[in-house]
Amino acid sequence: MKRVVLATIAIVLGVSGVVAQQNIAVQQSNLMKGQAKSLYGVLSRTLRGQSPYDQAAIDAALVQLEESVGKIATVFATNPKEDVVGGDYGSSQKIWQNKADFDSKIPPVAKAIAAAKGKIKDADSLKVAFDAINARCGDCHETYRVKLK
Ligand code: HEC
Repeated sequence: MKRVVLATIAIVLGVSGVVAQQNIAVQQSNLMKGQAKSLYGVLSRTLRGQSPYDQAAIDAALVQLEESVGKIATVFATNPKEDVVGGDYGSSQKIWQNKADFDSKIPPVAKAIAAAKGKIKDADSLKVAFDAINARCGDCHETYRVKLK
């Protein structure tokens, strides 16, 4: 009887552990997807003529990006040790072997966003800002993001 109880407790703890890990992975993925919404869903779509030029939307996207990028270090503080089930991308384990280097990829993104604020006035300046920000996102993805599909 005791053994059954212990085994049941072990299973319950095991399952809740998996759920917690999955929650962390999902939170990390959602933070990134939010950034993509601003950078690609607003800035890039405007550049490609898929959305009309909307200054307020562009300015709001930069504010959202700045806020979200400021959270990367904390949201990625814990290794979820697993990928989002069915996700397109995962985190490389290198992040937790080189957390300081991973974190060092964040300020350049924040700088590029800060530099773009108030500078985007038309399609040309939008292109300059988009390329600058996107390149810095890529600097981290190159080493630390893994394509799963
Ligand atoms: C310090 C490193 C780092 C920076 C900076 C960074 N990312 Fe990521 N990003 C990651 C990692 C790691 C993953 C893979 C894990 C995941 O998807 O949660 C990822 C995944 C993504 C994904 C795929 C999300 C998914 O789960 O399908 C998108 C989209 C993305 N990032 C957009 C951005 C954008 C846009 C920027 C710049 C504004 C950015 N990222 C900056 C590390 C970074």
